[in-house]
Amino acid sequence: MTSVLFVCLGNICRSPLAEAALREEARRLGLDLFIDSAGTGNWHAGEPPDPRAIAAARRNGVDISGQRARQVRAQDFFDFSEIVALDRSNLRELSQIAPAGATAQLSLLLDHVPGREGQSVDDPWYGDDEDFDLTWGDATAAARGLAAALSR
Ligand code: 4NP
Repeated sequence: MTSVLFVCLGNICRSPLAEAALREEARRLGLDLFIDSAGTGNWHAGEPPDPRAIAAARRNGVDISGQRARQVRAQDFFDFSEIVALDRSNLRELSQIAPAGATAQLSLLLDHVPGREGQSVDDPWYGDDEDFDLTWGDATAAARGLAAALSR
């Protein structure tokens, strides 16, 4: 089965929203995907998403309160077919920690949005609700592109 892991820094703001957006899109398309998210850091491991991310998802009809943060691990590079970084620093970090022989395809979230290739999703951590809505917008745009590509 095609599997997608979204990775940001803390796994409590951006990647949980990306995970939820792709899950919604896959459901809409009837696409069978295994989807998860993780952080390059472990500060928030075991915690639910940031309350502002939970609220942003809820404004869009999705409940992400059951998600729990975890750190990315070496086995992920073999277990997932796609590992999608939320920003360029996350992508750099993933390239550095990728074990020899890693089989996962690495990309940047906005590579999946025509015209926004190579761009980072801004970290809303120091922002407000509006910034979390922007994150949700980026996540849903990328989910559309990613799901379309994976269903081909
Ligand atoms: P995320 O946001 O990477 O989108 O989950 C952050 C969450 C926590 C921290 C930084 C970014 N932090 O420094 O704890």
